[in-house]
Amino acid sequence: MGTVAGRILADRITGDTNPHGELFSPHRVSLRAAPTLAQMNTAVALDLIGDRLVPPDADGDDVPVGTARGEVRRAGQKGVYRDRTGAVHAVSLRCTHLGCLLRFNGAERSWDCSCHGSRFDVDDTVLEGPATLPLPRREV
Ligand code: FES
Repeated sequence: MGTVAGRILADRITGDTNPHGELFSPHRVSLRAAPTLAQMNTAVALDLIGDRLVPPDADGDDVPVGTARGEVRRAGQKGVYRDRTGAVHAVSLRCTHLGCLLRFNGAERSWDCSCHGSRFDVDDTVLEGPATLPLPRREV
């Protein structure tokens, strides 16, 4: 697809018509894609709303080494991770992109957002966007 994209872009720059330009146009409208688009956006909306209704896992004091938990405090939801040395890392569980609730990914040791795919390390740093701002840290 990279080669096709390159040819389409080159033709657009030179003013030539590319036979595949319409097929890959970001402005194309397809009614066949409407159900899939609606289904995907519904899933994101349910995730966004459902996250606010589901209670968190447990209190941060109960977090075993190498695992993480979510909890609710007056300051909002926070994610608590205990590393192998026993040190505890606490961050806000609200994604800095649009506010979806993050979930811990034990395989990657990261806080992941199911809405648009942002990922954060246990200390707050953005690993993958679209989020650009780090997570606010929370007191342990
Ligand atoms: S709300 Fe988290 S990536 Fe968009």
